[in-house]
Amino acid sequence: MKKTLVTIGVLACMFASCQSKQETATTCNQENPVVSTIMARRSIRKYKPQPVEREKMDLILQCGINAPNGQNKQSWEVRVVDNPALLDEMKEAIAKGHPNMPAEMAKGCFRGAPTMVFIARDTKYDFSPYDCGLLAENMVLSAWSMGIGSVCLGSPVRFLTDNAECVPYLEKLGFSEGYELSLCVGFGYAEETPEAKPRDWGKVKYVD
Ligand SMILES: Cc1cc2nc3c(=O)[nH]c(=O)nc-3n(C[C@H](O)[C@H](O)[C@H](O)COP(=O)(O)O)c2cc1C
Repeated sequence: MKKTLVTIGVLACMFASCQSKQETATTCNQENPVVSTIMARRSIRKYKPQPVEREKMDLILQCGINAPNGQNKQSWEVRVVDNPALLDEMKEAIAKGHPNMPAEMAKGCFRGAPTMVFIARDTKYDFSPYDCGLLAENMVLSAWSMGIGSVCLGSPVRFLTDNAECVPYLEKLGFSEGYELSLCVGFGYAEETPEAKPRDWGKVKYVD
């Protein structure tokens, strides 16, 4: 009797857990490692201090540059900074360049990620923002599959490009002529396990 009740309970949970598309994907595709990585990934904003090992970053970067991209132009350039002193200097420059910004905001602008990836786009190619986004997505997903957290960051792009204090650091990143900083992505070992944020399935429609 007890066993039957437990079985009914488990089946009821499984049924309930598959009621929304989001939950169906989360709970019912655990056996597919790509799907489960996609569904389990979350943006991480608290990290352990150690940078990601460079051999692991190399693999993540290889996954990045193997993303689909328009006409295989690879309209990106990528710079990796895992030197904590340099990251601190960049945050200080952001603070100096934004005197009205709360100090905590400048300090936290990389969300504590110990390895920062700066992605620039080729301004001569209109689809380069998508190329850079797909590169970033391949990186965050491959990282997650390896137990490494990440966060895509748009705000540091603005903070690094809208003032004179940060110019030396943009120069240090050394992007080619015609490329502009487009997206930052922080990587590291997670020190938090955030919940999934809800997604709106209503934005998706089949059109017959
Ligand atoms: C283009 C882009 C810019 C983002 N900029 C920031 C940012 O400046 N700061 C931040 O904390 N998160 C940033 N995020 C992360 C989003 O807030 C996050 O992906 C979203 O809330 C969904 O949460 P999830 O990634 O955990 O699913 C950015 C994400 C993207 C794709």
